[in-house]
Amino acid sequence: MHHFLSLLLLFIGLHVSVQTRIPRSVLTVPNGVSWGTWDEMKMCPSETYAIGFILKVYRPSSNAGDDNRVLTGIRLYCSNVFKDSYLDYRQSVQSEVDRSGQWIFNRLDGFCSCVSLLTAFQLRFEDGMATNIKFNCSREQVLEGDGRSRGEWSGWSQKCEGIGICGISTLREGPQGNRNYSALKNVRMYCCS
Ligand SMILES: *[C@@H]1O[C@H](CO)[C@@H](O)[C@H](O)[C@H]1NC(C)=O
Ligand SMILES: *[C@@H]1O[C@H](CO)[C@@H](O)[C@H](O)[C@H]1NC(C)=O
Repeated sequence: MHHFLSLLLLFIGLHVSVQTRIPRSVLTVPNGVSWGTWDEMKMCPSETYAIGFILKVYRPSSNAGDDNRVLTGIRLYCSNVFKDSYLDYRQSVQSEVDRSGQWIFNRLDGFCSCVSLLTAFQLRFEDGMATNIKFNCSREQVLEGDGRSRGEWSGWSQKCEGIGICGISTLREGPQGNRNYSALKNVRMYCCS
């Protein structure tokens, strides 16, 4: 009986942790690399959509100034803008995150204006690592991260089918020689209806 109960609890626990929303579409940027291992997809709580973001950035060489930044993590803030008039910062979802680097809030706005959601994105790359990101909001607004201001911008991803971005997964660099950090190499966003 006891055994049965713990199995049951294990089952319930697993069920809760693997339960995710089914995305309606996947957004990718046109010229990102795709080999390597993608992290598990991380989804916003049900009925919420991403309305803003912050970046985790790392400066591999501390004497090269602020422009020497690579992305080591991305966090999306999720909200049901059709229902909630405020943002609960605890409702967020993030990519797998490297321990190196710091979370930085955008100097410019990192959030869509009211009743507007993230619907497409663009990545900036340098030396095969992601250095910055831009998002389109559903109401004609472009948000640009405070990552690196150098590198090549990819083209835009597709635009969300359904309502808006509701999840993320990332492709990270594996161990590289004596590098002690792991940068993001590519990003996928998921959209929900
Ligand atoms: C990585 O190595 C550099 C140079 O040795 C050091 O300054 C930095 O603190 C290290 N970072 C981490 C996250 O260990
Ligand atoms: C994002 O917004 C920019 C600027 O308004 C626009 O040029 C671009 O086509 C939009 N991209 C998508 C995928 O909607």
